[in-house]
Amino acid sequence: MSSSDTKVITVIGSGLIGRSWAMVFISGGYSVKIYDNQPGQSAKAITEIRKQVEELEEAHMLRGELPAAQQLALLSSYDDLAQALEGAYFVQECVFEQLEVKQSIFQNIEHVVGKDVILSSSTSCLVPSKVFSKVQNRSRCLVSHPVNPPYYVKLVELVPHPETAAAVMDTTHVLMTKVGQAPVLLRKEIDGFALNRVQAAIIAESWRLVQDGIISVKDIDLVMSEGLGMRYAFIGPMETMHLNAPEGLEDYMKRYGENLTRVLTSFGPVPDFTGEGSKSIIKEMCELIPSDQNHLSARKERRDRLLMCLAKQKKEDC
Ligand SMILES: NC(=O)c1ccc[n+]([C@@H]2O[C@H](COP(=O)([O-])OP(=O)(O)OC[C@H]3O[C@@H](n4cnc5c(N)ncnc54)[C@H](O)[C@@H]3O)[C@@H](O)[C@H]2O)c1
Ligand SMILES: *[C@@H]1O[C@H](CO)[C@@H](O)[C@H](O)[C@H]1NC(C)=O
Ligand SMILES: *[C@@H]1O[C@H](CO)[C@@H](O)[C@H](O)[C@H]1NC(C)=O
Repeated sequence: MSSSDTKVITVIGSGLIGRSWAMVFISGGYSVKIYDNQPGQSAKAITEIRKQVEELEEAHMLRGELPAAQQLALLSSYDDLAQALEGAYFVQECVFEQLEVKQSIFQNIEHVVGKDVILSSSTSCLVPSKVFSKVQNRSRCLVSHPVNPPYYVKLVELVPHPETAAAVMDTTHVLMTKVGQAPVLLRKEIDGFALNRVQAAIIAESWRLVQDGIISVKDIDLVMSEGLGMRYAFIGPMETMHLNAPEGLEDYMKRYGENLTRVLTSFGPVPDFTGEGSKSIIKEMCELIPSDQNHLSARKERRDRLLMCLAKQKKEDC
C-alpha cells in the first residue's frame, strides 16, 4: 500500500483502550491519529505504544504483516481535535465512560468531519441512542465495543443506533475484519449488548451457588476455567449443544430441553451483590487472592501472559 492511499483513522482518548485500538489499527496498515484533551497525553501514549509494539515484535507476537518500525511510523499524536480529525474516514472514540462527555465529544466532532465519516464509540455500558443523542446525522454512528485487552481478545461487538445505515455497519465490519479483530453484529441495541448480558447470567448463577452454600468460590471458578472455559475458547454454547447430541441441535433439545427448562426454572431472583449476603463471598475470595495491589497485579500479569499464549494457540489452530 503506498502512503497516498493509506486510510486514516482518528482515535479520540489515549487511555488503555485508545492505545489498544491504535495498536490494532496500525497492525492492519492504517494511519492512526491519536487525540487526547489532556495536553501531552497523546504523545505519551505513543511512547507507551512504541515500547509495547517493540516488545511484541521481540516476542514474535506482533500482529499484522508490517514490521514494528513501519507500524509505528503510521502513528501521530495531536492536542488539537480538528487537526486530529483531518483526513480521517473513521473515528473511534475512547474517552471516559461518562454519558455527557461522550455526547459532547460527538457533537463537536460532527461539525468538523465530512458527512461520510463514520463515528464509532468504544462504550461498554451506554446504548447508542444515548451516546449519539446530540448528533444530527445518526445514520453514520455506531458502537464498536472491544474486550480488554483487544490485542489478544479479538471480539468486537458492533451495535447500531436505531437510525444507523446498513452500509455503515458493513464498512465497520470490513474494517474490523481487515485489522484481524472478530466483529459480531447486533441487529438492535440492548442494555449490556451481548457479551455483558451473557457474562451477567454467568456471574448471577455463580454468585447464587456460592451464596446458597452449594459450592466454594475456588471451585465455581474451576467449573469455568477447567470445564466450560476449555470449550468456550474455541466454540460457543450453540455449537457445543449441536455437537453434544448424535443428530445435532434439534436432537439435543429433544433429549435435554425439558431438563434444561426444569433447571432454569429453579434459578432464583437476582442475588444480593452488595449487602450482608455478599460479605462472606468477598472474604472467601480475598483469602484466595488478597485485594492489595501486589497480589492483584501479580494475578493480572499472569492473566495477560496466559491470554497471550492462548491467542497464539488459537492462531495456530493446532
Ligand atoms: N478498560 C476496559 O476494560 C474497557 C473495555 C471495553 C470498553 N471500554 C470503554 O473504552 C472507553 C475508554 O476506557 P479506558 O479504560 O481506555 O479509559 P481511560 O480512563 O484509560 O482513558 C480515557 C482517556 O480519555 C481521555 N479523555 C477524557 N475526556 C476526553 C475528551 N473530552 N476528549 C479527549 N480525550 C478525553 C483521558 O485523558 C484519558 O486519556 C470507555 O468508554 C470504556 O467504557 C473499556
Ligand atoms: C448522513 O450520514 C450518511 C452515512 O454516512 C451519509 O451517507 C449521508 O450523506 C449523511 N447525510 C447528511 C445530510 O449529511
Ligand atoms: C432428565 O432428568 C430426569 C430426572 O428429572 C432424568 O431421569 C433423565 O435421565 C434426564 N434426561 C437426560 C437426557 O439427561
